[in-house]
Amino acid sequence: MSRDEAHADAVRKREIGRRLEMLRGVDLFTVLSEEEMNEIAERLQYAPFARGDVITKQGNIAHWLYIIMFGEAEVRYEPQHASPQLISTLRAGQFFGEMALLTGDARSATVVAKTDVECYRLDGKSFQGLLLTRPEIAEGMSRVISSRRPDLDKVREAFATQPGPAVSEQADLLSRIRRFFGLRR
Ligand code: CMP
Repeated sequence: MSRDEAHADAVRKREIGRRLEMLRGVDLFTVLSEEEMNEIAERLQYAPFARGDVITKQGNIAHWLYIIMFGEAEVRYEPQHASPQLISTLRAGQFFGEMALLTGDARSATVVAKTDVECYRLDGKSFQGLLLTRPEIAEGMSRVISSRRPDLDKVREAFATQPGPAVSEQADLLSRIRRFFGLRR
């Protein structure tokens, strides 16, 4: 191996190590084996943002699951005729973007970098593959969605121009997730 190759190899290993460290800090992923962690680490894409950047926009089609490595991000609901409403602040070790990926709906809210933020993002197909091999992660994700949904629904309802259909109940959520990924259990 040439010096350049050895250097590139060392840089790559350091980068994968960094990703693994972050993945180990995500509660839902603690069920994964080293091999599975490594596979996800290989697939992640580094995504840095400056303070104030829009990371993902309400209403957009989803392509990525984001995991925060560093910094804080604000989840804001944007009503049609009012200013953005702060729903939550997310920090290192937390993820976002799971709702639209799992349900097939558009992005439910806008996520903005509150500080400089470093994320890694996993493409939808790889996320889907992970859920297919590890349905317990799909269930864990649905629990996270169920815990996040009430705050989102409260704001949505407060700013609804017309009473819309009731947002899906928790029991329905898992079946929608399973349908979206073709999971049968
Ligand atoms: P998604 O709908 O794909 O895009 C916006 C994201 O904001 C959403 O997925 C969740 O990850 C996140 N989000 C929405 N509501 C909340 C909440 N109440 N608490 C934390 N995160 C949320």
